[in-house]
Amino acid sequence: MHLTMSALILAATAVTAHPGSHSSRRPPFQGDFTINQYQLYPENADFDFKTGKLYIGQLWNASLGIYDPYTQHHEVVDFPGISHNPLLNMGGVGVETRTGRVSIVANGPLEFPTNGANIAGDRWLISYDAKQKKEVYRVNLTATSQGKYGGFQDVDYDPAGNTFVVGSFPGTLTKVSKDGKRVTPWYLPATINSTNKGLTGIATVGWDLLAYGDESGELWKFDTRAEKGVPTVVPVSRNHTFAPSDAIYLPLKYGNKVLLVAHSAAGVSVFESKDGWKSAKYKGTVPLPQLDPGTVLVAPVQIGDGIYQIFAYFGDSGLGGQGTAGNRTQFPFHDISDQVDMLLGKCDKEHQRRSEDEEIPASHWYYKVHQRRSEETGAVNPASWYYKGQERRDEAVGEEIIETAGWYYKGHQRRSEQFEEAGLETAGWYYKSGGS
Ligand SMILES: *[C@@H]1O[C@H](CO)[C@@H](O)[C@H](O)[C@H]1NC(C)=O
Ligand SMILES: *[C@@H]1O[C@H](CO)[C@@H](O)[C@H](O)[C@H]1NC(C)=O
Ligand SMILES: *[C@@H]1O[C@H](CO)[C@@H](O)[C@H](O)[C@H]1NC(C)=O
Ligand SMILES: *[C@@H]1O[C@H](CO)[C@@H](O)[C@H](O)[C@H]1NC(C)=O
Ligand SMILES: *[C@@H]1O[C@H](CO)[C@@H](O)[C@H](O)[C@H]1NC(C)=O
Repeated sequence: MHLTMSALILAATAVTAHPGSHSSRRPPFQGDFTINQYQLYPENADFDFKTGKLYIGQLWNASLGIYDPYTQHHEVVDFPGISHNPLLNMGGVGVETRTGRVSIVANGPLEFPTNGANIAGDRWLISYDAKQKKEVYRVNLTATSQGKYGGFQDVDYDPAGNTFVVGSFPGTLTKVSKDGKRVTPWYLPATINSTNKGLTGIATVGWDLLAYGDESGELWKFDTRAEKGVPTVVPVSRNHTFAPSDAIYLPLKYGNKVLLVAHSAAGVSVFESKDGWKSAKYKGTVPLPQLDPGTVLVAPVQIGDGIYQIFAYFGDSGLGGQGTAGNRTQFPFHDISDQVDMLLGKCDKEHQRRSEDEEIPASHWYYKVHQRRSEETGAVNPASWYYKGQERRDEAVGEEIIETAGWYYKGHQRRSEQFEEAGLETAGWYYKSGGS
């Protein structure tokens, strides 16, 4: 056995890290990155904060990817009978940090393109022990659904180690006991019609399970301790038009108080709850970057300290025909941490990541209360919006800045009085505090 010194140190770190929390020994990880791996095609991903590994549902190969963002090492786990089977895809993945177990869902290639009209075939939930590198169990979800519902696409856990699987055609929840032996159709809608698209994403917080994507456009909450799943509606304040959605996610860095929803063609919507998800507030949507045609947003995920958008490249033509992998090798992960922080009003020193040489010269005007003034003309151009948390100016002492913040906004959002804190528009420039 050949063990280098650094490998020994890493092994020791893994043992002493606090379970479920950031490993403080690992260097901060943030910023855009790209995984160079032929035919990776991620559909969903989950990060294990204990081991620092990113688990990826590799769509067309129907396999599990295990990526180490710190070393760029990538490992592929194939499942016999499932991986490279053209009748199966792999998507939803969730790691139970406490045990190191990874659940991954294998679904059919036709149900999403046919909007639930074709759900024929076997579907699987696999539990994989990432420490022992072995499959723990596999559940035939078609046996549970009797082939009447499908679109299984994400997983999460309750604190007792039960796994919940969300299906979208129609919206269902299946509960699987820790040992994989007891499989319960836990929530089913009144009418089972596979072409009624429903829930697309789930995320657990303690014993509660948040679910999203139902036709009603409501955010739902279930008590996982109940015998059967009964949804209650979480009232969401501030108007939000619900676009087609996919996975939802509660980033660790916000202590389960912030929910991210992937809106396929719109971006990551940000919701915040200050009362344990009795109610929530829509904070705004982080838009999508420029994308190739056919590319859609499938999931948000926290990796290290960063929040990332994951894309599916449905515009690529499959080398083996429709529903197979294309020829792509580069899979970029786009860091949206700053935008999410901004929508949450968390503007602190962490935002000073922009290097000094990228600085933009000071502007010739400034915002005072609600008016934009030009230094050249003195013209006052009243705006219907204003910046919040900028420099404090005191009317009594004139234009003087009496307090300068120790931080600045980068890519500031335009806020409207009408919509309060909505980030309506992102500016390509920023203020740097410092005075006149
Ligand atoms: C996908 O499978 C192909 C073989 O069909 C292989 O060349 C490629 O490396 C695989 N990619 C991943 C990410 O598993
Ligand atoms: C999975 O369950 C379905 C429905 O009961 C059954 O038809 C199929 O044979 C099962 N698949 C396997 C591989 O056992
Ligand atoms: C299912 O719903 C679709 C409309 O979404 C309808 O056309 C179809 O008749 C329904 N099927 C059944 C069996 O009720
Ligand atoms: C919310 O938005 C919808 C659709 O844009 C609109 O019909 C509705 O009137 C709005 N509700 C409020 C309270 O603004
Ligand atoms: C990948 O496939 C596209 C067509 O789908 C083609 O235009 C492109 O040249 C291919 N790239 C490589 C590296 O083979």
